[in-house]
Amino acid sequence: MTTRIAVATEPGYEVLVGAGVFEFARELAAPRDVLVRDSGLPEALGWLETSGAIALPPGEEAKDWESLGALLGALAHEALDRSTTLFVVGGGAALDLGGLAAALYLRGVEVVYCPTTLLAMVDASVGGKTAVNLPEGKNLVGVVRQPRAVFADTRFCASQSEAEFRSGLGEVLKCAVIGGERGLESLEHDAAALAKRDAAALERTIARCVRLKARIVERDPLERGARRVLNLGHTFAHAVERVAGFGRVPHGVAVAAGLGAALELARAAGVLRDATLPARVRRMAKRLGLPASIDALREEFSLALPPRKLLEAMRHDKKALAAQPRFVLPERAGKVLHGVACEPSLVERVLAPKRKRAPGTARPRRA
Ligand code: GLY
Repeated sequence: MTTRIAVATEPGYEVLVGAGVFEFARELAAPRDVLVRDSGLPEALGWLETSGAIALPPGEEAKDWESLGALLGALAHEALDRSTTLFVVGGGAALDLGGLAAALYLRGVEVVYCPTTLLAMVDASVGGKTAVNLPEGKNLVGVVRQPRAVFADTRFCASQSEAEFRSGLGEVLKCAVIGGERGLESLEHDAAALAKRDAAALERTIARCVRLKARIVERDPLERGARRVLNLGHTFAHAVERVAGFGRVPHGVAVAAGLGAALELARAAGVLRDATLPARVRRMAKRLGLPASIDALREEFSLALPPRKLLEAMRHDKKALAAQPRFVLPERAGKVLHGVACEPSLVERVLAPKRKRAPGTARPRRA
């Protein structure tokens, strides 16, 4: 089956979700179009072996000036004109870089995204954010520019490593909380099948996340307000990723732990109206094999993650105002506030390790 979701931005586009939709992308491509692919992808994907495809460095390595310059140089070398569409096949990093190159080359050519990871299917491929990193931080340079179409082929999820797939589940959990009662109930219903990467459960779940994101991005494409709710759990997650060292904790796994921390902070700050939500999210995280708190992350990755270092990292977050972190906090499922300022002492209390180490167990590695 294929699910089609219309995204009513300016311009609008369709997201196709299902097993086999990659073939539709292939049929759409004209001879002048260019395939840009993540070089880390498995070879047995037919179209990807096409000679003339431009290969990007694998994963997050792709998101720097050098790779952007190399990709723009390759497009210019082929003397591609404005009628060219870039078909970008890969994870979130490849899509972020390919989308930015498409926005810059000849002041803008069209781009089609074929996400190959669960994380990119539910997040990076929809909404038009593009970016490269700077040594000073992640995603500091980019534009918002919507693609021509998105083809999310669930078959790609089958070849993902367990760690990569789990990272996608972190964003899925975040979407369920933003999606309200129906979002949570649907994920509760699909969690077991999803963990087994069942094709129908994947299609339903990805489609739900894409629909949710589409409705939010349509209202606020440039993230002036409402779109910020999609950053639920991210202020904590980015701080964890920075303090642990980028690449050590997969992004979506950090988001799951960040979501737990956001719920704790919402309770401590008196924002949370549904007292049952934290336990419900914890149960769901457990079923999906995700950490539901910063403490669980500390334990799993043997990290110290000192509260003061995390707090310091939050002051550098893109969403900080005058070096004061701003938080996205749930009131209840489906009602999420953004731009919330909290006392640093309160945040530090939430970040403080709560689990006592059993006598004789090793102290976590410092980071
Ligand atoms: N990743 C959040 C957004 O696209 O707004």
